[in-house]
Amino acid sequence: PAEREALTERIRTLLRERNAVLVAHYYTAPDIQILADATGGHISDSLDMARFGAEHPAETLVVAGVRFMGETAKILTPEKRVIMPELEATCSLDVGCPPEEFAAFCDQHPEHTVVVYANTSAAVKARADWVVTSSIAVDVVRHLHGLGKKILWAPDRHLGDYIRRQTGADMLLWEGACIVHEEFKARELQQLRAQYPQAKVLVHPESPAAVIAQADRVGSTTQLLKAVVEMSAPVFIVATDNGIFHKMREAAPEKTLLEAPTAGKSATCQSCAHCPWMAMNGLRNLAGALERVDNEIFVDPAIAAQARISLGRMLEFGR
Ligand code: 13P
Ligand code: SF4
Repeated sequence: PAEREALTERIRTLLRERNAVLVAHYYTAPDIQILADATGGHISDSLDMARFGAEHPAETLVVAGVRFMGETAKILTPEKRVIMPELEATCSLDVGCPPEEFAAFCDQHPEHTVVVYANTSAAVKARADWVVTSSIAVDVVRHLHGLGKKILWAPDRHLGDYIRRQTGADMLLWEGACIVHEEFKARELQQLRAQYPQAKVLVHPESPAAVIAQADRVGSTTQLLKAVVEMSAPVFIVATDNGIFHKMREAAPEKTLLEAPTAGKSATCQSCAHCPWMAMNGLRNLAGALERVDNEIFVDPAIAAQARISLGRMLEFGR
């Protein structure tokens, strides 16, 4: 606790000295979320992280999350310095969608409108017509479907399949998955629901279809957080990264929150419902990056200029 306090104090000072603001995702550690709250920073889902970073006047954005979030911030505000506690913090969706292979897939289907999830590299975003996050994906695809467009979707196949079921759009899907959400188990969820018949089920759409089918609310992290406050139930079963529990408990302390069942613990995974890359963000490396002003995100300007178009469409659509 003494080290934690010292680090927290140091980070507060450095944020002021560097004219920096901390933007964190809900899946990061409570220590980081508390610090972001206390220093005028921001904690949110991917879409609002992008919006907040783009609109905030700070010279430096400290993005606590995974790499694509830092890249998105840099693409949207190239004049700002963007630093991250850990540059190696990636995402299985990003890793599973290499830009060259993706470009070849797009080239094979030139008649399709290319819509990609925000959880991708800058180069993949640059190849896309649209970027979306989970909070806006269904609305964007419904709009494009209404215009008669056929969609090429990447990389999350569960989210893509969910969007297809919701919109009826003609969609070609890339075969990516999130290693965290893919682990939620439908049969075990059914058993837990039988134990807690009064519980409402909240599911992130990166989860398998049989888990989504049991949901009372499907949505992005921000939308699930809202649901805990809005829905009048004493118990919630939550199928998303357990980092979200910090804010959910804060927002609805009287409610009981249960983790949706996963395949279970293993040698490499203490709790499977926690992203190993989000977990790389801590007070120590956050303080270090701010102290040295390193771990900076750079995006090739030509790629950034292209990606800004597809990201910009999403921001404009969501206005
Ligand atoms: P959202 O916070 O946009 O719902 O995204 C979830 C996610 O997987 C981020 O890594
Ligand atoms: Fe990627 Fe899943 Fe981790 Fe989010 S939780 S960063 S989608 S691996």
